[in-house]
Amino acid sequence: MMKRRKFIKNTAAGTLGATIAMTALACADEDTKAKNSTEEDKPMTKKVPKLPIAICTWQFTEANQVAGVALDAGKAALDAVIEGVSVEEQNLKNTTVGKGGAPDREGNVTLDACVMAPDGDCGAVLAVSNTSHVAALARKVMEETPHVMLAGTGAEEFATQLGFETENLLTTDSKKAWQEWLKSPEYKPIINIENHDTIGMLAIDTNGDIAGACSTSGLSYKMKGRIGDSPIIGSGLFLDNEIGGAVATGMGEEVVKTVGSFLIVELMRNGMSPQAACEEAIKRIVTKNDRYKDFQIAYIAMNKVGETGAYCIHEGFTMMKYQEKKNENVAVAYYHKP
Ligand code: GLY
Repeated sequence: MMKRRKFIKNTAAGTLGATIAMTALACADEDTKAKNSTEEDKPMTKKVPKLPIAICTWQFTEANQVAGVALDAGKAALDAVIEGVSVEEQNLKNTTVGKGGAPDREGNVTLDACVMAPDGDCGAVLAVSNTSHVAALARKVMEETPHVMLAGTGAEEFATQLGFETENLLTTDSKKAWQEWLKSPEYKPIINIENHDTIGMLAIDTNGDIAGACSTSGLSYKMKGRIGDSPIIGSGLFLDNEIGGAVATGMGEEVVKTVGSFLIVELMRNGMSPQAACEEAIKRIVTKNDRYKDFQIAYIAMNKVGETGAYCIHEGFTMMKYQEKKNENVAVAYYHKP
């Protein structure tokens, strides 16, 4: 195991997560110093994650890479997550986020997003149909209005005033798929829709500050006006810069009922690891809802020192993690073993 002196040399001493953990270790060292004159040879008991780190839901490889590279370049966590999720907002092949997302039953693509900053400020937009850049728009709500949420035409007019490009979000492919669906329009949520869904992203930057963003087109062929968890602070996303953050993907209605992301952060505040907190949040859902076999929900979480966790109901969900210039797809454990 690594010795403390060598560990400090190998760690970016400026990173707050490492600093916090090292301070704790240093305090522990002070206690033991008097008892043990060969203190510097004592082995480390816990490896401190190296910052910065970006994580996101599903195998959104490029989005997470963009966020990670931004963090490595010294950008703030909030800038990194917005740059990251915008990759999927503009990915026409992605039918669950941004332009190219599946429309509602009436053929209108409407997007939801929210962001949260390290200082606890937040912004959200709901049912936006004229721009794909909804996470950036949510940030503008946070920074340039006295409000937290703007919905529908109000959010769209705000986007236009700010000069966001006006886009037709319904692509030829998503229109064709919707027209096909109309032939027998049964509403049935699909577990792991094409192995992706909402993009939720958390980043911790080189200063140790945490920010998050969440962006989605919501459930395919939803009722007009339906909103899920993704733009709801506390459900689709929550963070406390002193504790950590969490984001959700999957069946938004069930996430909202348990205020899942807020729950995970509070569980971490009370001492749980990100992994244990995600598992407990899924347990709250499956123990109260025996229909859980029909829908997917997944959470990912990261705490203040950069430890991460993830858990979901059904097999098939994975998480991206960028750290030390490596962007990896991480397997995620699941609750339901059929
Ligand atoms: N999690 C996305 C939604 O339910 O809208």
